[in-house]
Parts: sequence; structure tokens; C-alpha cells
Amino acid sequence: MSQTALELKNVCKLYGPHAARSLERYRATGRLGPGSSMGVWEVSLTIPRGKTSVLMGLSGSGKSTLLRLLNGLHQPTAGSIRVGGTELSTLKRQQLVRLRRKTFSGMVFQGFALLPHRTALGNVAFGLELQRVKKRERLARAHTALELVGLGGHEHRYPRDLSGGMQQRLGLARALTLEGDILLMDEPFSALDPITRRELQAELLRLQERVQKTIVLVTHDMEEALKLGDQIALLKEGRVQQVGTPEEIVSRPANAYVAAFVAGVDRAALLTASSIMAAPTLAEHPARQHPAHEHWVSPETSLADVLRITSQNTATLSVLSAEGQLLGTITPQNVLAALAANPPNTQLKRSL
Ligand SMILES: Nc1ncnc2c1ncn2[C@@H]1O[C@H](COP(=O)(O)OP(=O)(O)O)[C@@H](O)[C@H]1O
Ligand SMILES: [Mg+2]
Repeated sequence: MSQTALELKNVCKLYGPHAARSLERYRATGRLGPGSSMGVWEVSLTIPRGKTSVLMGLSGSGKSTLLRLLNGLHQPTAGSIRVGGTELSTLKRQQLVRLRRKTFSGMVFQGFALLPHRTALGNVAFGLELQRVKKRERLARAHTALELVGLGGHEHRYPRDLSGGMQQRLGLARALTLEGDILLMDEPFSALDPITRRELQAELLRLQERVQKTIVLVTHDMEEALKLGDQIALLKEGRVQQVGTPEEIVSRPANAYVAAFVAGVDRAALLTASSIMAAPTLAEHPARQHPAHEHWVSPETSLADVLRITSQNTATLSVLSAEGQLLGTITPQNVLAALAANPPNTQLKRSL
């Protein structure tokens, strides 16, 4: 199976009448006509299978538009969208409905929209019912999902009898049980209080480790994006500013806009030895299996840990692979330079 779940090429979406004509006009003049508004513009993006990709940006930046384009709820004004290799625009209506049912786990919104007149078990099973899974299997899978999110024993309670946090877990269980590899989530945690929100984020990470779905999650919260995303695409006014891992976005922002977004992020928790090390010098060539430096760390060691080691001993650190190969070196200057990119008085607020 291909490692790519979804692929977008030069996707544009304009809202309003005569979108195709508006698009030509916008290309030619850089102006939108009356009644026309920008959804997304020239988005090219690859969504890897089995990972969590985050669409991040301020309100109005085009995140929800992009999400709806992915499962064909919106048609692009221009460009190509492939789902598992299938070009969406070639599908007839019925084929699209079938693909949506088979490939997508539906779309999760704020609050998860639980059904008040169904029990916890009934709520989780409901999505499967829509997907026409047989009753026996439905109930078995719903049971397993409830156990998974720590709601075993609460199968027969109604949403109103569950705490807010438990309701959200229920919603998460329902989403993750559904058939279909791709789960689209539009600001699922935005309406929650900070503590419940952190709990749910942790829950999602834990569940995702097991189910390894392709998740595309929309958020306007950078901390959430960095915490949940294997890949983050940062949008501004419908345009992608940068796509990268959390570490890439924080250590190498593509432009001033991205830099401003990540300015407050605690780099010490996010960056690792591999992103702050210097390449080995010739004398320390990787072929030499026994580097001269006696202090070493693995490439995944966090900057916070490197900082702690360096503060106790200012010797140069070697960064060694699992096989003992020298990948690079870290001097105290490297550590300071990495930290200095943080603005002064940044709170160390990212709790991992
Ligand atoms: N149905 C619509 N009709 C017209 N304009 C829309 C519609 N939906 C979204 N837009 C516009 O598209 C832009 C992106 O919106 P949206 O994708 O909802 O952003 P986000 O989810 O990032 O807040 C906004 O300027 C918004 O006003
Ligand atoms: Mg939105």
C-alpha cells in the first residue's frame, strides 16, 4: 500500500458565483471579483498514511475548506485531489459517496455531537450502523472501543449521565472505531476547558499509537499542532506557508510569519540533539567508529537534556547513532545558539 493517503496538487477553491471565471481573473489581476471569496490557493500537500497531519492557521485561513475538499464535500475550483490514488474529480456522485463511506471515518467536529437518546454503547455503534456493519460485529467493536478509552463498565449510561471529559472520550471512541483509514477532525478540542483538552490530546496520542489511522486534524492552536502533529501545514489566507515536522517548523521557520507563530514555543522540549549538532569534522570522520569525545548522546536526546548535561560538563558532546557511528558534535556554543533563537522571557509552558 502506498505511503501516501492523500495528495493535493495546486488546489484552489474560490467561493461565490462563477468561481472558474473568478479564478482566471484572480490569476490575471490578483483581485477577487465581487461576491467571490478566497478559500484556499495553490495548495500542494501530501498527507502520509497512518500519521497525524495538522492543518494549522488563524481563523479564516482556509483550514476547514481544505478539510472539506479532502473528502469531496467541496469541489476544487482548480487542481487535483487524489485519495489513495483515485482522482476525486473523476468520480460520479454515487462513487464518491461509496469512497467516503469506505475510506473515511467521517468528520469529527467540536463537541463530537453525541446522540442523547442512545447509550454510550449505542453512540459508538451508531457510526458503524451507518457504515452497515452487522449488529453482532458492531456491538463487539463498540465494546472494545469503550474499553480502549477507559469507559468499560459505562456501556449502558446515557451521555447526560457522563462527565464532560467522559463524553469527549466517548466521541473519540466513536470516531476511532469507524471503518475507513482516514479520520478528519475539525477543531475537535477547541471548545474544551484546558485540562479536559490536554487529557483528550493525550488520549488521542495514545489511541493513535494503536490504531494508526491517517488523521487530518485542524487547529488554530500552535501548541496543540506541535503536540499532535507528525506533520504540520501552516496556512495563511488560503496559502500554505510551510509544511514540516514540528521540529522543522520550530527550528527552521520558512518565513517571518511562521517565525512569529513559533516565537513562544519552548524549544528546549521540542528540539533534539540531531537538529542542533554540527557536522563532524574531517578528523572525526563518521567512518571512525570510536570518536574521541567521551561524552555522547543519541540523536533523539532533547535539547533540555543536552542543556542539563552541558551545564554539568562543558566538554564537546558526540552524537552517536544506535550503531555507534558519529553523526555530529555539540559544543556549548551550539547549545547556546539553539536557545538564543528563543525570544527573551519565553515561558517554558509546553508540557509534554
Ligand atoms: N460557504 C462559504 N461561502 C463563502 N465563503 C466561505 C465559505 N466558507 C468559507 N468561506 C471563506 O473562506 C475562507 C476560509 O474559510 P475557512 O476554510 O472556514 O477557514 P478556517 O477553517 O481556517 O477558519 C474565509 O475567508 C471564509 O470567509
Ligand atoms: Mg474552520
